[in-house]
Amino acid sequence: MATKLDKQVQLDKLRQIVLDNDVCRDLAEQATNLVMGAGNSDADIVFVGEAPGKKEDEQGLPFVGAAGKFLNEMLAQANMDRGDVFITNIVKYRPPNNRDPLPEEKKEFWPYLLKQLQIIQPKVVITLGRHSMEYFLPGMKISQIHGQAKRIKFGDEKLIVVPLYHPAAALYNGGMRQTLIDDFLSVPKIIAKLED
Ligand code: URA
Repeated sequence: MATKLDKQVQLDKLRQIVLDNDVCRDLAEQATNLVMGAGNSDADIVFVGEAPGKKEDEQGLPFVGAAGKFLNEMLAQANMDRGDVFITNIVKYRPPNNRDPLPEEKKEFWPYLLKQLQIIQPKVVITLGRHSMEYFLPGMKISQIHGQAKRIKFGDEKLIVVPLYHPAAALYNGGMRQTLIDDFLSVPKIIAKLED
């Protein structure tokens, strides 16, 4: 079985492959940093957001702005921190002016996200917002399935996906904020059930 260090080495190699393959050249040319993801390369939980914003682009790290602060608070409520999980995005360069990622940008990065998941082998993938949910659970509505564990299959890969609202959308919406926290706090129970 691959160790945490083996997995980190593979993730580092994947980063170089993204650069060598010139993935999303248009976005790359306007970005400061490639934001591949950060955290525990052997995590049980991987979060997948949309795309880096200004702060993330400057620092080369995911979720370091206001939405990231909220994510940290949620993790703390579940007695976790960033070192326990892995956090990434479906699109790994900042779209100009924080516009929504385009379908073709998500499509270009999708194989690299799947590769990250094949390396890390998490128990649960948590999608944050509809852009990453759409790819894992096409045709589903986040308002109807948030917080529910869904089993999906890609080729030989089996995944449990839990779609959550995006922390940026929930930041200034008290009801959605509490729903997001409640959904997230139910994830350890979902993992415990998987292990029964
Ligand atoms: N929003 C995202 O979806 N990802 C980030 O990394 C930051 C904000």
